[in-house]
Amino acid sequence: MEIPNNVIFSEKAIELREKAREIAEKHVRPNAAKFDRDQQYNYEAAREVAEAGLFKTFVPKEYGGHGAGVLALCLVTEELARADSGFGVAFAVNALGSFPIILGGTEEQKKRWLPLIARGEKYVAFCLSEKYAGSDAGGLSVTAELDGDEWVIHGEKKWTTNGGVADIYTVFCVTDATSKSRRISAIVVEKGTPGFTIGKVEDKMGIRTVPVVETHFDGVRVPADNLIGGRPGMGFKHAMMTLDYARPGVASQAVGAAQGALDLALVYANRRKQFGAPISSFQMVQKMLADMAMKTEASRWLVYAIAAAVDSGHETNVSKRAAMAKCFATDTAMEVATDAVQIFGGYGYMEDYPIAKCFRDAKILQIYEGTNQVQRMVIARSLVRESEALKHLEAYIPREVQKTFRNEKVITGT
Ligand code: CAA
Repeated sequence: MEIPNNVIFSEKAIELREKAREIAEKHVRPNAAKFDRDQQYNYEAAREVAEAGLFKTFVPKEYGGHGAGVLALCLVTEELARADSGFGVAFAVNALGSFPIILGGTEEQKKRWLPLIARGEKYVAFCLSEKYAGSDAGGLSVTAELDGDEWVIHGEKKWTTNGGVADIYTVFCVTDATSKSRRISAIVVEKGTPGFTIGKVEDKMGIRTVPVVETHFDGVRVPADNLIGGRPGMGFKHAMMTLDYARPGVASQAVGAAQGALDLALVYANRRKQFGAPISSFQMVQKMLADMAMKTEASRWLVYAIAAAVDSGHETNVSKRAAMAKCFATDTAMEVATDAVQIFGGYGYMEDYPIAKCFRDAKILQIYEGTNQVQRMVIARSLVRESEALKHLEAYIPREVQKTFRNEKVITGT
């Protein structure tokens, strides 16, 4: 059997990473500060990404993509995020919005939308969160009702990343309020559909190049065929499966963000002289740089291993491991960005230089695609379930405790 953690980069993945690195240095980094300040989307870089075929990375071959998998998606996202974390998510959110179709869509739906996404002709957004339903993704209130051969959608979504730029929106709606486990369905809404509008555009602390908006659905009518998978009630599962596939992507955004901050801190530390020597020669700064590099590298290989495991198809606990990658890498990015600001000292606190932006951009990583509290909850729930397999070790816990759950003779571990 293939080893799930066997990280092998395909030639295609390496080629895509190289292209991403080139675009990042030529078209993303030079204007990152301007797009951040103006809260503007970098259409030019997105066009370059499309022309280089990078949107094909996560789309299966049968639908016009490269079928290069989650590992390649991570490599590309990391490179883009290294230059501008905001642009990293502007790219990766297209995968997030596409995964419900890739993982749960009918053949007809895949043929209809995926080739357009692969060619970069249509951008995508994922509409799950609402004002009163963030971490509690099951507590949605946007509704969709079937009227003849159309779904009619009412309500508002919050924090739609890429909203306004995107052409295709995967919208999670309540289609059966009476059901507990089959309450929600995912429905595709295309830009320009009457009744579908962009509401408040959020003024954000970071990742300012990508829009995050409220999306409003005022009696939006879409064909019944837009129901992802063709069967109502599958939406919550599709959302969870999507997040399992997308979280390594956000984790790789964090790896890129951490590496980007470390790169800048390193260059500065080598050039900045105090007390007659570069500050990189001082042990306390060296410790910071070394810790930043170790944690970034640890995150990177955790993310690669988990992405490779997802691609292998043999991973039995994608949810837990995707949550681990997301949580560890994004906590690392925040820590590394914080230390990078510290190394820059007073300059680091000023908006004149990109390091302050690295710090602002890092915070959201611990919040979106599931807060790191939710990730820890997913990991812990999973560990508790898996502990069944460790029953043979019960003989090694204190006998007093053994007595509380066993009436029979105490089994000793010695
Ligand atoms: N795959 C498939 N099915 C799953 C699943 C998974 N990973 N996780 C749960 N399910 C199923 C369960 O089996 C269960 O099914 P049944 O009803 O048939 O038994 C059902 O879903 C409910 O599961 P839970 O009881 O575990 O659900 P819960 O209500 O306790 O919630 C949660 C679990 C992990 C907290 C979930 O709500 C969650 O992930 N919340 C965070 C939401 C989130 O990540 N939002 C991010 C928005 S996107 C974003 O931020 C992107 C951006 O802007 C860039």
